[in-house]
Amino acid sequence: MLTNKKVAIIGVGKIGETLLNGMIKNNLVKKENIAGSTAQEAHAQEINKKYGIKTYINNKEMILGKDIIILAIKPQMMKKVLSNIKDIISEKQLIISIAAATSTQFIEECLEKNIPVIRAMPNTPALINEGMTVLCPGKYIDENHIQMAIDIFGSVGLVEVIHREELMDVVTALSGSGPAYAYIIIESLTEGGVRMGLPRELAKKLTAQTLSGASKMVLKTGMHPALLKDAVTTPAGVTVDGLMELEDGGIRVTLIKAISRATEKSKEISQ
Ligand SMILES: NC(=O)c1ccc[n+]([C@@H]2O[C@H](COP(=O)([O-])OP(=O)(O)OC[C@H]3O[C@@H](n4cnc5c(N)ncnc54)[C@H](OP(=O)(O)O)[C@@H]3O)[C@@H](O)[C@H]2O)c1
Repeated sequence: MLTNKKVAIIGVGKIGETLLNGMIKNNLVKKENIAGSTAQEAHAQEINKKYGIKTYINNKEMILGKDIIILAIKPQMMKKVLSNIKDIISEKQLIISIAAATSTQFIEECLEKNIPVIRAMPNTPALINEGMTVLCPGKYIDENHIQMAIDIFGSVGLVEVIHREELMDVVTALSGSGPAYAYIIIESLTEGGVRMGLPRELAKKLTAQTLSGASKMVLKTGMHPALLKDAVTTPAGVTVDGLMELEDGGIRVTLIKAISRATEKSKEISQ
C-alpha cells in the first residue's frame, strides 16, 4: 500500500524514531522515500548515520514532494511548525499528527486549507512492536488515508480507529499514558516479591511475564477479566487473600480515578 509513497517525519524524537524504525524494518517504505527532521543539526546527522535516510532541519524543504507528513513534535511546537509550512503544503498531502491534546480542527485551521489530517495516539511499547495506536480522522479524510495510517501504525503494534474525537482525551489517558501506570504496578509487585525474599531480578521477571501473559489471555481469549480472575482463585486458597488486600487498598477505585483525572488534564490542555 505504501510502497511508492514518500514520507516525511517532522520531529524524529522518541516516538518519531520509533515509527521510522518500524516502517524501515517492516519494508513499509523504501529508505530513499523517507526523510526526517529535528531541531538540532547534530541530532539530524545522528539519525542520518543510524538509518541511512535523508535528514533535515528545514521542514519546508523536507516536505516538498512528500505524500505523507507525520507530525511528531511536542504540542507546544505545533503552531510554529504549522505556520512555517502552511504556504507550501497542498491538499494532496496527508498529515498524521501524533501530538497529544492537539485536535484535527486546530491543525486544519492553522494550515488554512482543506488538508486531510489524521490524529493518532500511539504509545511507547511501539518501540518493540507492541504498541497500541488509536486513530481519529479529521474533516477531509477518506478511506484511503485511513488505510495508509493503519499500515504505518500497524507496523509497530495494534491499531483502532474511532470517529468521535472527543474520546481522544480518554484514549490519551488510558493507552497513551498507560505504560507509566503499568510500570508502577510492575515496580510495586516486584518490591513485594523482594520483601518476601526473592532476588530482585527474578521478582521483576516473574512480575513482567505474569502481567504480559495475563494481558495476552484477555486479548486472545476475549474472556471477561473477572472470569479469568475467578479461574485463578481457589476457594480458601492463596490468591483470594492477595485479592482482599488489593480491594482493601482501593486498587479499583484508584485506577478508575487515575484515568478520570488524566482525561480531565488532557481536556484542560487541549488546543
Ligand atoms: N512519548 C510518548 O509516550 C508519547 C505517546 C503518544 C504521543 N506522544 C506525542 O508525540 C510527540 C513527540 O513526543 P516525544 O516523546 O517523541 O518527544 P521528543 O522525544 O522530545 O521528540 C520531539 C522531537 O521534535 C524535534 N523538533 C522540535 N522542534 C522541531 C522543529 N521545529 N522541526 C523539526 N523537529 C523538531 C526535536 O528535535 P531535537 O531532538 O533536535 O531537539 C525532537 O527530536 C508529542 O506531541 C507527544 O504528545 C508521545
